[in-house]
Amino acid sequence: MKKLLLLLILIFIGIQFIPMNVPADLPVKEGEALEAPENVQAILKRSCFDCHSSHTTYPWYSSIAPASIFTKMHVKEGREHLNFSAWNNYSDEKKLKYLQKIPKAIKSKMPLPSYLLIHKEAKLSDADKQVLTDWASEVAFDLE
Ligand code: HEC
Repeated sequence: MKKLLLLLILIFIGIQFIPMNVPADLPVKEGEALEAPENVQAILKRSCFDCHSSHTTYPWYSSIAPASIFTKMHVKEGREHLNFSAWNNYSDEKKLKYLQKIPKAIKSKMPLPSYLLIHKEAKLSDADKQVLTDWASEVAFDLE
């Protein structure tokens, strides 16, 4: 029993050294970030930007493994998939692809359920979903 506990403690210490280099803030050049109407921007900021922007607000436990590993992997992956702070670097084709994916994503898995457990304020109401869906289809319509 004691040995097991010691082993667990050693593992816990060991995983603290796994490098997870996902900074909270990445540089953003002028004109790169998405510009959306204020109400849309507010919803995205509250519910999506922690993983889909270059400005992440990390919770305190995100510097302690294993929480740090999950948190930072989500942020890294989220940014790689879709980064609203780099929106204007995307081609029209790519923007269109994302705009078409957003309504589906917010219906099923976004924000990630594990994130919502801790960030209750990020849960999208039906009204929020409608605002995002309407906005996405409007912008997509203009691009097409
Ligand atoms: C806790 C982190 C997190 C939050 C918060 C989050 N996402 Fe994601 N998102 C991810 C990850 C990780 C992926 C890639 C893996 C996947 O698709 O499940 C992703 C994928 C996506 C995709 C698919 C992109 C592609 O390339 O196919 C869309 C669209 C998306 N998210 C939209 C949103 C929107 C809109 C919000 C806010 C309402 C949001 N996400 C909030 C982590 C997050």
